[in-house]
Amino acid sequence: MVNHVTKAVIPAAGLGTRFLPATKAMPKEMLPVVDKPAIQYVVEEAVDAGLHDVLMVTGRNKNALENHFDRNAELEETLIKKGDTDRLEKVNYSTALADLHYVRQGDPKGLGHAVLRAKMHVGREPFAVLLGDDIIDARDELLSKMLDVQNRYNTTVVALMEVPPESIHLYGAAAVEETGEEDVVRITGLVEKPKREDAPSNYAIIGRYILRPEVFDVLERTEPGRGGEIQLTDALESMAQAPDWTGGVYGVVFRGRRYDTGDRLDYIKAIVQLAADREDLGPELRPWLREFADGLADEPEEIVEEMPAEPAEPLESVADTTR
Ligand code: UTP
Repeated sequence: MVNHVTKAVIPAAGLGTRFLPATKAMPKEMLPVVDKPAIQYVVEEAVDAGLHDVLMVTGRNKNALENHFDRNAELEETLIKKGDTDRLEKVNYSTALADLHYVRQGDPKGLGHAVLRAKMHVGREPFAVLLGDDIIDARDELLSKMLDVQNRYNTTVVALMEVPPESIHLYGAAAVEETGEEDVVRITGLVEKPKREDAPSNYAIIGRYILRPEVFDVLERTEPGRGGEIQLTDALESMAQAPDWTGGVYGVVFRGRRYDTGDRLDYIKAIVQLAADREDLGPELRPWLREFADGLADEPEEIVEEMPAEPAEPLESVADTTR
């Protein structure tokens, strides 16, 4: 079967406000998950699915992202001198991983706006979009299945996950119809971050999409929606309502492991889960985790207070005492 999709687009230009102050000077996609930045897992996923042409949509603080996938001659030289071939291999791996391209999103006007920035690079072919802060566990199949569905149905395809009803307001939610194929549905409508009572189902859109190029035409006409941002979900809703010329929208239901590293709690869970399964860290981490969890069960809950956002004393009085 011929796979027509060759390009992946990774939007990584969001402000990452949920992770401030860590993301003040660094994109959230660069936060380390064990010992790799989140974005590297995402690029590896694209490459594993055969998509070597990767366009990254970057925003402010883009340097850290570009540098990570670029050569670092000084570091390489030091590691060569030390004869540290293991670490040298790790450093060089991210440089040679994919054929990377970059485009800027001047203002972060929403995910739809970020995807529109890929128009020139993508041209008139279907392409994949992988959100740079969303990690799909490499042991669970998703992208290759979506590519296969896109290829057979020639539609736009989004990844869906069933979430508890109380969490649906955090996602785009889909109204679906069965196709007769297991875990493949036809999407009849989409709503961005609906109230629980307005959600058409508990199928949430997660950060993987195979889009037909008609999405660019739709995005160009999409008005800012929720939060004043140009929402990809709104464009997909228009496509679902106009299957005659957009091909419609299908969903692939994912039942594997996914980590939203843009969310602090999910980020912590991702690190623990991935590290516990690793050969180099798991054997020491797992018994420590068990002991730690036992301790939690025995002790009363101890809450560590967050640092106050404001200085405890007004700045003026602090200045007074130092005069
Ligand atoms: P989020 O919805 O997580 O938004 O973006 P955000 O602004 O980055 O983060 P918070 O909510 O303020 O903490 C999902 C993905 O879309 C990208 C982000 O970088 C992330 O990978 N994105 C979002 C853009 O590239 N541009 C945008 O304007 C918005």
